[in-house]
Amino acid sequence: MGEKVSDALRFYIKTYGCQMNVRDSEKVYCILREAGYEPVDSPDKADIVVVNSCAVREKAEGKIYSEIGRLRRMNPKARIVSMGCVAQFNHEKLRKLSSAVVGTSKIDSFYKMAHSGRFEGVYVDERMSDPDHIFPHKPSVSNFVDIMYGCNNFCSYCIVPYTRGREVSRSPKAILDEIKRLVDSGTKEVMLLGQNVNSYNALKGGFVELLELVNGIKGLKRIRFTTSHPKDFSIELIKAMRDLDKVCEHIHLPLQSGSDRILRLMGRRYTAAEYLEKAMLFREMIPEGSITTDIIVGFPGESDEDFRKTLQIVKTVQYDTSFSFKYSPRPLTRAAKMEGHLPEDVKLERLNELQELQASITQKRLKEAVGKSFEVLVEGPALKGEMMSGRNRQNVVVNFRFKDNIKEGDLVEVRITKALKHSLVGEVSC
Ligand code: SAH
Ligand code: SF4
Ligand code: F3S
Repeated sequence: MGEKVSDALRFYIKTYGCQMNVRDSEKVYCILREAGYEPVDSPDKADIVVVNSCAVREKAEGKIYSEIGRLRRMNPKARIVSMGCVAQFNHEKLRKLSSAVVGTSKIDSFYKMAHSGRFEGVYVDERMSDPDHIFPHKPSVSNFVDIMYGCNNFCSYCIVPYTRGREVSRSPKAILDEIKRLVDSGTKEVMLLGQNVNSYNALKGGFVELLELVNGIKGLKRIRFTTSHPKDFSIELIKAMRDLDKVCEHIHLPLQSGSDRILRLMGRRYTAAEYLEKAMLFREMIPEGSITTDIIVGFPGESDEDFRKTLQIVKTVQYDTSFSFKYSPRPLTRAAKMEGHLPEDVKLERLNELQELQASITQKRLKEAVGKSFEVLVEGPALKGEMMSGRNRQNVVVNFRFKDNIKEGDLVEVRITKALKHSLVGEVSC
């Protein structure tokens, strides 16, 4: 017997970047599977290698070119399909390195390629092909659901508006149908995705009305969403989070900087005081809630004093987690042409200082959870040992000892016994 178990073409998908890309890769995975292609666990066994790219920082973009080079040397016979954010804004470069290039707006072109068996051509369009199309999902306890595509904010440092196009909200019908189908196949939790969910505009009552509708779906247990832009984050949304039983008490509210001067240069359209007021209102109205954030250090012209202001907000808000990045100049963006770019070592020093501060706050907040009980949605076995893993409503990973009667998708009460560096450990109490 030969090694090959079937004649179906085999594929491998490598994904970089954020949840949007993770969701897009899932769409491609399902399209290829449904067309009869076989997934494999390593690119050297594949006939088709899909690379889903991220362009948000220079390093992420660079990685795509080196990864494609490495894949071509490792498996010269494979067809390489590049997709994602780099594909959308720099398809000329990628077309030279791959058989096919698919932009973020043209995921549907995989249907055509899969059915013809020809993985070639350039599929990049400014406009999203039918935003209401419902792409398939992998069955899972928790699934991502796009509620809008694109971004209109044009923050001065950010390439995303050029890689994801203009904002378009999906119709409530498409979103609700998609979630109902998911629930029918076993999904308990959805994460609603958009670059700025608060500007969802396909309903009169905006994002809050969408949350109300999703909250009404029978069988669904939990609703999460990301990202909220602080300029549009509202008291109505906090109230909805407090009052709608399925909406989890966690917000990702990207601060970016604590200095008004830098925020203005970034084009964020809020002040540090406005940000703080909203974050503190959330704390007050939902005391058990969690707040996470994104921060950029070393934006052009950022002084030590500006940076201290960022640290101050981090101390005041007491974020559960923060994702922090060194500013990276991106093509097409206004900030790349600004004066006062900082040397790498200054950016690195600030990043380290911020990350140390955050690590101590994260630890403190995790330790505060010891002795308390949380509702945990069971996602499956933990990576190590005889443990199971899930997340509480605050989005913290909670591991607990395996019990016979507990299975994936269950909601259990877990009493926390120990805080680790980024997660909690506990015992099931019912
Ligand atoms: N839509 C989301 C963010 C998407 S990009 C929002 O508005 O918050 C994810 C994060 O990458 C951003 O929040 C920002 O912190 C970071 N980022 C974006 N452009 C960057 C750049 N040029 N250099 C460094 N970090 C950047
Ligand atoms: Fe980028 Fe700003 Fe849009 Fe977020 S809101 S994706 S940071 S331009
Ligand atoms: Fe996401 Fe990276 Fe694109 S962060 S939107 S995959 S540039």
